[in-house]
Amino acid sequence: MRVLGIETSCDETGVAVYDSDRGLLADSLYSQVEIHARYGGVIPELASRDHVRKTLPLVYEVLDKAGLARSDLDGIAYTAGPGLVGALLVGAAVGRALGMGLGIPTLGVHHMEGHLLAPMLEADPPEFPFVALLVSGGHTQLVEVTGIGRYRLLGESLDDAAGEAFDKVGKMLGLPYPGGPRVAALAEQGTPGAFDFPRPMVNRPGLEFSFSGLKTFVRNTIDDNRDTEGQLDAQRAADIALAFEQAVVSTFVIKCRRALEQTGLRSLVIAGGVSANQRLRAGLGQMVAELDSRLYYAKPQFCTDNGAMIAYVGCQRLMAGQRDSLEISARARWPLESLSPIAPLAPAS
Ligand code: KG4
Ligand code: ZN
Repeated sequence: MRVLGIETSCDETGVAVYDSDRGLLADSLYSQVEIHARYGGVIPELASRDHVRKTLPLVYEVLDKAGLARSDLDGIAYTAGPGLVGALLVGAAVGRALGMGLGIPTLGVHHMEGHLLAPMLEADPPEFPFVALLVSGGHTQLVEVTGIGRYRLLGESLDDAAGEAFDKVGKMLGLPYPGGPRVAALAEQGTPGAFDFPRPMVNRPGLEFSFSGLKTFVRNTIDDNRDTEGQLDAQRAADIALAFEQAVVSTFVIKCRRALEQTGLRSLVIAGGVSANQRLRAGLGQMVAELDSRLYYAKPQFCTDNGAMIAYVGCQRLMAGQRDSLEISARARWPLESLSPIAPLAPAS
């Protein structure tokens, strides 16, 4: 089955075609980051309007790249939530209209399920069951995954998501939006040991996260280190970025180790924008090696928002016979645990 995937939940328009026999055939991404950067964050109305301009041209571009005609498609999947409702509605409307016009089935897909299963697009995909750490701009969750749609929430952030914390720290350090990758790049110049930030909630039992205290700690440290003109020295900024990143990474290492030990599982999947972070990958890689377990993640462009993950999930669910109901739905909130399971299928080649 050949499925077109459309992602428009936030500030990236992503389109891809996934083929159940041949894998990913083509994908394209258009990032709105320049539009939102001047405001320091995503402006929902501007996001929706730009998705209106970009979605259909990207569909044609992807079909062209894959050497396919519209009539070669067997199904269409689009992100139905969670996300910005106006932005989601654009992808949903385009997907549903194309599906109706072509007489092929459509399906609204859960954005975080897309992230969660994006590592299935890799050459050496994880096998069920596994523990997944979902770390995006809007979510930080530890999930036990026993199959597609079989998700048990083990713990989540009580306040900011990890990506959000990265973005806010980036803003405090005067870096442009989105801060995550820029904080990581700045941390490269940091001096190890210059600062030591608290690891939030690691001494409490359980698998919950909280990043607001760490964020306040970063803000206070920045203020304490300003010179008489209120400026923060470039090296100090890098040292703070490094100490923040190290605190986030070691928090995840401790909680992921706990999740693997509690569930008795031997595979850890990390997914979502923050899973592109090199220090996080290295820290978790070391921890899983100590437990004789394995770490899986997607290539960097499939860690952040993309159409490929939506095409993949859509293909698995459409092949299992799932279909949209008649109404077009777009959901700002949508618990991952409420998704319906399908029988586990062979991982993507
Ligand atoms: O999954 P994603 O693309 O969008 C959401 O579903 O939210 O995640 C975006 C988040 C942003 O907060 C961004 O700053 C963060 O992922 N991010 C990173 C890195 N790359 C993206 N954070 C830390 N290090 C990175 N290398
Ligand atoms: Zn995302």
